[in-house]
Amino acid sequence: MPNWEELERRCLACQRCALADTRTNVVFGKGPRDARVMFIGEGPGENEDLQGEPFVGRGGQLLDEMLSLVGLSRERNFYITNIVKCRPPKNRDPLNTEQDACIGYLEEQMELIRPRVVVCLGRIAAMRIIKPNYRITREHGQWVEKDGVFYTAIYHPAALLRDPTKKPETFADLRSIRAKIRELCPEVYG
Ligand code: URA
Repeated sequence: MPNWEELERRCLACQRCALADTRTNVVFGKGPRDARVMFIGEGPGENEDLQGEPFVGRGGQLLDEMLSLVGLSRERNFYITNIVKCRPPKNRDPLNTEQDACIGYLEEQMELIRPRVVVCLGRIAAMRIIKPNYRITREHGQWVEKDGVFYTAIYHPAALLRDPTKKPETFADLRSIRAKIRELCPEVYG
């Protein structure tokens, strides 16, 4: 069984793929380490690389605003991290080889947190976590249960910034996430 301090130390020193050569900071994750709810993005962007925290750019601000409307905050009740912990140059999609090198850290984080609800942010995370042929346009907001954990995906915040007409669907998905949390782990809302 991993422990947080040892896991974070290993992750911050990681040299398993070439992203280590170009990163400023490893972006390990943020939020309570006993959260029942996890959000998973694809990989750090420029601001995240500079600050060492996930989702701190414009997309992250939008995400925090939207999640606060359904009572969720990274300070209080969810943990947020990414599939890859280092920024892919020019924000390209992380390569499969980079995801393969990094996914063990996420698996260990999930083993420690043991979330009841997991929300993938965008297609890349959903393809890795839910199923390889995940279609975000068709399947966002749908729930998949595996071993008592409920998984869903919503549009990536960057996609909402590019195309705000997707926001109403995302709000519907967030209401469904709130309902699922109330059903499975009402203590999240105290
Ligand atoms: N996009 C992501 O997928 N993750 C981040 O942390 C920031 C932007």
